[in-house]
Amino acid sequence: MTPRILLIISGGIAAYKSLELVRLLRKRGIAVRAVLTGSAQQFVTPLSLGVLTENPVFTDLFDLKDEQEIGHIQLSRQADLVVVAPATANIIAKMANGIADDLATTLLLATDKPVLAVPAMNVRMWHHRATQRNLVRLHADGVHIMTPDDGAMACGEFGTGRLPEPEAILAEIERLLALPKNSDSLAGQPDFADAPETNTALHGKHILITAGPTHEPIDPVRYIANRSSGKQGFAIAAAAAQAGARVTLVAGPVQLPTPPGVDRIDVQTAREMLSAVETALPADAAIMVAAVADWRTADAADQKLKKDGSGQPAPLALVENPDILATLGRHAHRPALLIGFAAETQQIAEHAQAKLARKGADWIVANDVSGDVMGGENNAVQIVTPSGIETWPVLPKGQVADKLIAKVAHALSARSD
Ligand code: C5P
Repeated sequence: MTPRILLIISGGIAAYKSLELVRLLRKRGIAVRAVLTGSAQQFVTPLSLGVLTENPVFTDLFDLKDEQEIGHIQLSRQADLVVVAPATANIIAKMANGIADDLATTLLLATDKPVLAVPAMNVRMWHHRATQRNLVRLHADGVHIMTPDDGAMACGEFGTGRLPEPEAILAEIERLLALPKNSDSLAGQPDFADAPETNTALHGKHILITAGPTHEPIDPVRYIANRSSGKQGFAIAAAAAQAGARVTLVAGPVQLPTPPGVDRIDVQTAREMLSAVETALPADAAIMVAAVADWRTADAADQKLKKDGSGQPAPLALVENPDILATLGRHAHRPALLIGFAAETQQIAEHAQAKLARKGADWIVANDVSGDVMGGENNAVQIVTPSGIETWPVLPKGQVADKLIAKVAHALSARSD
């Protein structure tokens, strides 16, 4: 069966790119029905979309003829995937709040099919707290959301908010429909309904992950540690295993269940973590998420330290712990892709850039921990690579994990091509 897309085009300057997207979808053998919002019609015409989709184009909720022949509920459910591209800040706000005041938003509220939103807007609108709040809600509702590209905007400003290129949108649609990539035709492929659901993007790869804090003993009852719940690292391990990888998770002391399909090695200290990591090599990618304590006591006491009545605290001599990430960065068995995390509270991107070079990593995932990230459910990250910085919206940690693993799979497949 031919895969079917319901393409909702909302009104922004990037709407013209939807014509190219339709052309690519048709070339790929995907059937498209298009819906235009009122303001989208200022940028593209129903006529040009009708010609390209080879289907009627819908614009009006109260078009009786369409209502009799097709019905808006039916229209929203006949597709395999609903794609909103471009998705303006306005339609994102309506989707997040369940507003249905035109055909496009009524279809979005009535659909029982997966939805992909491809945002495009001015950089300030993208970063506005209201938009970011709406995106978090949509993610929680299960809507798939692409991150806009960085670059110059039609309005003359520069930043995140450009519609991703039609080829990238097509690739995401192929992924969501579980269609094989890089093929012009679906001839000979299994019916859409029979397409495999298993994600095999990392099949045959070994992914090594550290997570949680380390505990550096001072005496039998006290220790030095960083605040870390381990949630983000465990979510990444779960996502990697779901993508078919062999996963080794070296975990500091945390209260979390082992994700299905993950080999877990529990450690307490930074030195134990380093030793477990080196033993687990070689790996195709290493993702060092652990909040490793920078220092340990020079000599942990065998007995509990006691107050001696003098009012003076017991002296605590510290020595530096090994840097696991930096050790891997110069290791004979350095993984092909080495990723570090950086918890920062200020000048996040600048510090991450410096860390990239200092540790010999390929990417640094910089997270802003000035809010309630530690132990919380959401994370705000920037992916810093030698070629630039990607800013992701505030997302649940599970979604950050999924996106990161998709990016890892893409990078590893590019390296092995
Ligand atoms: O230098 P900083 O602690 O900010 O670096 C953070 C990154 O380095 C994280 O990826 C963390 O897992 C890693 N790291 C490490 N060993 C250390 C300190 C940090 O692997 N001793």
